[in-house]
Amino acid sequence: MKTLLGMLVLLGFLVIARPALADDTEALYKSKCQVCHGADGKGSPAGQKLGVKDLHSPEVAKQTDADLIKVTKEGKGKMPKYDGKLTDDQIKELVKFIRGMK
Ligand code: HEC
Repeated sequence: MKTLLGMLVLLGFLVIARPALADDTEALYKSKCQVCHGADGKGSPAGQKLGVKDLHSPEVAKQTDADLIKVTKEGKGKMPKYDGKLTDDQIKELVKFIRGMK
């Protein structure tokens, strides 16, 4: 009985702790990036004033994932740096999310 209870607790923990990455990434984008990059990645009015490019533009598309990860980590121009604020995994997922945005 005790083992069963222990297993249930462990199972519950695993379910709660399991990172729902896709949802998390979207929520992360919304909370951290959307202010400047806009819901569709084209850039919010505020972001466009700072010089964001459409994340679907050929200029961005031709950059490698590594390039985009680097910009997100280290910042560029008015783009804030997220090194230390987001984990490498989160940044990688965000870049994937940006690529998949329509
Ligand atoms: C304060 C506004 C602001 C926020 C918030 C912001 N960005 Fe940016 N971002 C910029 C600007 C401005 C640029 C263009 C930098 C340049 O080329 O000078 C940029 C560029 C980029 C680029 C490179 C694409 C390009 O233009 O070449 C990526 C990738 C990117 N941002 C990802 C993100 C992610 C991911 C987040 C959220 C974690 C985020 N940004 C949050 C302003 C912002």
